[in-house]
Amino acid sequence: MGPEHEPGKMNETRSTAGVPARAAALRLLDAVLRRGLPLEGALDSAARGLDRADDRALAHAIAAEVLRRLTDLDALIDGATAKPLPPDAKARFALRIALAQALQLGTPPHAAIATVLPLVDGGPRRLVHGVFGALMRSGATLPALPALPPELAARWDAAWGDDVTQAAARAIVAPPPLDLTLRDPATTAAWAERLGGISLAPGHVRLPAGARVTELAGFAEGAWWVQDISASLPACLLGAGHGRSVLDLCAAPGGKTMQLAAAGWAVTALDLAEPRLKRMGENLKRTRLSVKLVTGDALTFAPAGPADAVLLDAPCSATGIFRRHPDVLQRVRPRAIAGLAERQQAMLARAAGWVKPGGTLLYAVCSLEQEEGERVADAFLASHAGFESRPVAADELPAGFVVDALGRVRVLPGTLEAEGGADGFFIARFAKR
Ligand SMILES: C[S@@+](CC[C@H](N)C(=O)[O-])C[C@H]1O[C@@H](n2cnc3c(N)ncnc32)[C@H](O)[C@@H]1O
Repeated sequence: MGPEHEPGKMNETRSTAGVPARAAALRLLDAVLRRGLPLEGALDSAARGLDRADDRALAHAIAAEVLRRLTDLDALIDGATAKPLPPDAKARFALRIALAQALQLGTPPHAAIATVLPLVDGGPRRLVHGVFGALMRSGATLPALPALPPELAARWDAAWGDDVTQAAARAIVAPPPLDLTLRDPATTAAWAERLGGISLAPGHVRLPAGARVTELAGFAEGAWWVQDISASLPACLLGAGHGRSVLDLCAAPGGKTMQLAAAGWAVTALDLAEPRLKRMGENLKRTRLSVKLVTGDALTFAPAGPADAVLLDAPCSATGIFRRHPDVLQRVRPRAIAGLAERQQAMLARAAGWVKPGGTLLYAVCSLEQEEGERVADAFLASHAGFESRPVAADELPAGFVVDALGRVRVLPGTLEAEGGADGFFIARFAKR
């Protein structure tokens, strides 16, 4: 059979204008699933050659939807193939992309398949077309709630219970709202009204998903910045600065740095990553907040002297921010979590040496792994007799957030669910004796 008679060739030219965006989605998925890279970090390279912002956004949206639904998509594919396709097979990737579009993103099936067949040119086009067609004819659908990857579901079930894992599944399919942190908390009611949002805490405004950030009132003048409500808690727990010094380690892109500067702290902000610091410089310029920026490694950096407070918002698995970064659901493995927890302990040990007697050390991670949050905090206290816990009181937190029995903040899926949810987080506060 000549190619012109192959299945899927009919009407293909008409509907293949979007092939480069699908090819970019394939490269993105390959980067995340095969090479273990973060979705956002892989975007520039995967989307090279895509001139239009719309195509880039489409490639990202397709890849993100595949990552949210990977377990269910693979179950459909496996149920429709006589012999399972290998996990890394291009045909499997092409089918995931076509099915995510047809079943979740509203792409007409003929366009969904026509735009992925060129990705398997010279390969199993016929198989891809056949499996996709069979699934479409059988009226295949995806379940209302996504199945989590089995290893992750088992880990979260064991750590937090089935209710939390179920809440995570609901959160995966609920577009997260847009949270803003205000430079001046005294203006909360005014900004909530002006932007048409709600406020869940002083200095916080929540808008529905989908707002175009740079077009909102107050963006250009730097009246606020984007920050999930959970991520805004650590800086709030340090209180007003009154000119005292704070060392913000791992600071970029600067959400917490800006909160601290706005609350009257004299901030020294350190980060390892130049591009992230550059973004932070832009944020500080927009918000007209003054901070001393330092490029450096928290594991080797030595400040001029100790500080009244040290904030370690440590690099972590980021499993708490799966709503906006669904790649973490698929690529974070126990070995990586153990390595990150070890690095956090080393960073905390360094940070401990820079706190003035009587000062505060705050440790935070946007992780849902006990190994990173609770166990790191336990190990720190067990190995640093000069520090004690400075427990967080429930009334220091906005309604809906809770502290554990040891006065540490643990934000789990299900928190603020009726209001649009919150990212997973852990915060522990220590005092130097
Ligand atoms: C969780 S993010 C910080 C978010 C930031 N605190 C905020 O609120 O916007 C972790 C940061 O740690 C930085 N980082 C990772 N390893 C580091 C190290 N050894 N020293 C300093 N910064 C590091 C990363 O570049 C990243 O910007």
